[in-house]
Amino acid sequence: MKWQACAPSNIALIKYMGKIDPASNQASNPSLSYTLKKLTSTVELETASSDSDTWQAFANSDLHLTSPAITRFLNHLQTIKKTFNVKQTFTVRSQNNFPADCGLASSASSFAALTLCAVQACSELSQNPYPDQQALSALCRLGSGSACRSLFEPWALWQGDSVKALDLPEFNDLQHAIIVVSQQAKKVSSSNAHQRVLTSALYPGRPERANQRLQDFLQALDSKDWQAAFQCAWQEFWDMHALFETSQVPFGYLQADTLAALNVLRYGWEKRGDGPLVTMDAGPNIHLLFHTGQQQTRQQVIEELSQRFTVL
Ligand code: PMV
Repeated sequence: MKWQACAPSNIALIKYMGKIDPASNQASNPSLSYTLKKLTSTVELETASSDSDTWQAFANSDLHLTSPAITRFLNHLQTIKKTFNVKQTFTVRSQNNFPADCGLASSASSFAALTLCAVQACSELSQNPYPDQQALSALCRLGSGSACRSLFEPWALWQGDSVKALDLPEFNDLQHAIIVVSQQAKKVSSSNAHQRVLTSALYPGRPERANQRLQDFLQALDSKDWQAAFQCAWQEFWDMHALFETSQVPFGYLQADTLAALNVLRYGWEKRGDGPLVTMDAGPNIHLLFHTGQQQTRQQVIEELSQRFTVL
């Protein structure tokens, strides 16, 4: 028997960074993301006769997972199997339609897709009811915190144990672009980053800052103040990257081209008084979001950046 599920990635504008409880991926602060419907992961589960679950890439995919990443993936499947009391072993296949593990939030989509697929298989095999959206999202969260937001669109607000979809009129159909500085796997995983930021002297006050910025960001979009929203998003990713660089021992993801592209973007905003929301995950690549009223700005910004960088 076979099951397949697909889930989108998401990009946080207010970041989940730091955990209260690492075992359940309980976040130290609320986070807000925009769902990236075009960046997806697909997971397939096939019943197997082996003693344990195994992972492989889809036949037509070049996805390579490191051994710790495979273990983490299969451990999450194990967690879901336990929830449903399913003993059956599976061959797990997965693929992304975008590069994995370099700050494009592949863990969000891949753990969401695995959760959806495993829950389908396990509820069918155990003849237990299919869980509701909150329960599904809670299961996604156990695999990767950010995955719990991928089940909601266009915006997802994760606060405490609840995740909900937000509708932000005029900003529900954003266009996403990525400046790809590097597709190499990152050296410090986000799981590790969550632990290490707690050692930064800048960490005390971080949950309060994130809370305040969330309010400011929502207020900015509510009053259609795109520039104020840009400022919140800009401050927010720098806040997170400052935590990385001031951890003991410090680490970071920014590369020379990351800084060069950020300078072009900041200068562009100064010049035009307009531009995209800019944000970064735990990686060297830069995410841009344009609203539907920005066709001309979008064309200019992408054209300018494409002369020097790879823009997807
Ligand atoms: O879901 P995790 O454990 O990979 O954490 C993701 C954390 C960030 O991507 C850096 C921020 C976020 O909110 O998505």
